[in-house]
Amino acid sequence: MSYFISFEGGEGTGKSTQIKILKERICKTSNYQCLIIQEPGTTNLGDKLRVLLKKETSPDHSITYLSELLLFSAARSELVTKVIKPNLEKPNLIIIADRYVDSTTAYQGFGRKLELNQIELINKIATHMIYPDLTFLLDSDPEVMFQRIISKSETNLPSNLNTRMRKDIKGTRKFEEEPIEFHKRVRTGYLKILKSSSERMVKINANQDKGIISDLIWQKIRNNIPNLK
Ligand code: TYD
Repeated sequence: MSYFISFEGGEGTGKSTQIKILKERICKTSNYQCLIIQEPGTTNLGDKLRVLLKKETSPDHSITYLSELLLFSAARSELVTKVIKPNLEKPNLIIIADRYVDSTTAYQGFGRKLELNQIELINKIATHMIYPDLTFLLDSDPEVMFQRIISKSETNLPSNLNTRMRKDIKGTRKFEEEPIEFHKRVRTGYLKILKSSSERMVKINANQDKGIISDLIWQKIRNNIPNLK
């Protein structure tokens, strides 16, 4: 039997680190193979769209929020058809997704304020109604996370973080450049999804030590997936 796990959360909440730790743990302690997928990406089309969707865009090259939604969804549909579906048919495999459909609801629905009914419909089409067995939401106040990202980038910390943070992060990307209010809406979105999807979604406080977070994730996975030590 195969399983599908996704990781969600705002910028800098440590999803990739936790995915790496989880993969090593699964490989060491079981006969399951792991397949890590990244959104947008993993397929030929997805990789191309990733570059486009993450690029800093000057105003004259920007795309509309609706186009952005459709491009993320096109990448997802491709990923589901070419990677997720065929792999879910293999035995003893765990697919671990670095973001999936909840990112669209949180970022395009709540962050960009696109019509939630439309997002729900497009999400159904793009996922082909394939949802994860388990989703970990790494949750944090975006102000705390951005402070961490800025410290990591080795720039001199501005004292008025709220208003200047975007400009002061080295190598910023499109979504990180959005104002803090955008990221707060994204967090609110995730917490709303949590309420309506509590059967598959687990919230974890991302401000804890990474060892504690990985143990919490492992505990939950062992309770849900058989034959893990
Ligand atoms: P990525 O480098 O994967 O960010 P992170 O390390 O935070 O996961 O970049 C993906 C960006 O795209 C991220 O800022 C969230 C955004 N995104 C959406 O807005 N909608 C989506 O449907 C997905 C999958 C991602």
